[in-house]
Amino acid sequence: MDAHDIRNSYLAFLEKNGHTVIDRAPLVPRGDTSTLFNGSGMQSLLPYLLGAEHPAGQRLTDSQPCVRAQDIDDVGDNRHTTFFEMLGNWSLGDYFKEEQIRQFFTFLVDIVGLDPEHIYVTCFIGDPANGIPRDDEAAGIWATVFGERGVSNGIAEIGSQEDGDRRGVLPGERVFFYDGGENWWSRGGSLEATPIGDPCGPDSEVFYDFGAAHQDPAYGKAHPASDGGQFMEIGNQVFMQYRRLPDGSFEELAKRNVDFGGGLERIAAASIGSDDVFRISLLWPIIAKLEELTGRSYDDETASMRIIADHLRGATFLAVDGVRPSNKEQGYVMRRLLRRAIRLALSLGLTENFFSEIVPVIADLYAADYPEVAASRDEVVAVLVKEENSFRRTLEGGLVALAEYQGGTLTGTDVFRLSDTHGFPKELSVEEARRLGIEVAADWEAAFAEALEEQRARSRGATRLGAAGLPHA
Ligand code: ALA
Repeated sequence: MDAHDIRNSYLAFLEKNGHTVIDRAPLVPRGDTSTLFNGSGMQSLLPYLLGAEHPAGQRLTDSQPCVRAQDIDDVGDNRHTTFFEMLGNWSLGDYFKEEQIRQFFTFLVDIVGLDPEHIYVTCFIGDPANGIPRDDEAAGIWATVFGERGVSNGIAEIGSQEDGDRRGVLPGERVFFYDGGENWWSRGGSLEATPIGDPCGPDSEVFYDFGAAHQDPAYGKAHPASDGGQFMEIGNQVFMQYRRLPDGSFEELAKRNVDFGGGLERIAAASIGSDDVFRISLLWPIIAKLEELTGRSYDDETASMRIIADHLRGATFLAVDGVRPSNKEQGYVMRRLLRRAIRLALSLGLTENFFSEIVPVIADLYAADYPEVAASRDEVVAVLVKEENSFRRTLEGGLVALAEYQGGTLTGTDVFRLSDTHGFPKELSVEEARRLGIEVAADWEAAFAEALEEQRARSRGATRLGAAGLPHA
């Protein structure tokens, strides 16, 4: 099954189980300024998770394109992408732990065809200080479903990630308890950081085991929550049954919900037995096109090609959803993705414009399943090509200017000047300087902010108030 089939079979399977397939939310959240981008399937469903009635019923499903701009610096490894699709299903006060666990497990094993021997799961260890019990119920259900398939099903207490790094996985273990840093889901990321008013709850995460040879020993012993490479998280079931109160305590919601999110790209990678998500059917054609355009191989230029493919895919979807490159907010992130892709492509020898060759490849990967991609294809290519043209004019001058710092130190004021005159996003200057071995002043960010503030003060004082363009901050 390729990634496209996995997405479509997931939606069909959930529909057969009584779910309504709902429209995805746009990448830029409507009426919600708490984040720049939609970063999970549940974000647009918050009111319903807090008890409002959803017009499509109590069982919902979708595949939600997400952008996590905060992951930009992790892109380049085998699993991080700024853009990804999250398979989602929700029970709004309907089924709970048993049906959810069986449903996802059946999907992975019987539909996608994953070997249950390679699946490991985690549950919440409990938080006595907040009166939240250990999730023995979820752990017990998991032990049963693994037992039914004839695979080992031992339950182990791990606690924190550090404990796991020391302890690892012992023979026969399948289900692991971790603390509120790992197995509690809220938009804040942990039990401690749960935002006031938000729905939240213990979660049960599902991992695929690629085998011991994939573990980087620098991370300690392999266990599901380790980032060492052997285990990759492929799905997360949140048993959303609490809400945080202003005094920091947790109250039970009137209705218990399930919020499930599965990483489409990662499930697809597990299904082809590759821990490299860029090998899946939704990403490999972009890499193959880059190999063709550059005449270089992915094996030699792995990180650069991954970054270019990820960033152009993300920027393409942002353009489909109406974002345009600019110096602010979503538009700035988009600009940063595009400019970084251009700069890396230059390092692969692509000195000519290439977006018009590659953006259509990306659009074609999604056109059949996302009609809005098909409908906006030509406009999206035009938007990206325009940004490429405008940056190309200043790129080479900027690189020459940057190279002059070789042997010296790049300060925040220099970074500001490169941004102001050459349109180099500040992060790009710093990254490029580091790549060239130029020292970057430790306080560059503060000095950059100061230079920006000075320029703003100057333009506020100028008679042509508001006419002065903001630098690329
Ligand atoms: N909302 C959950 C997540 O993002 C499913 O992992």
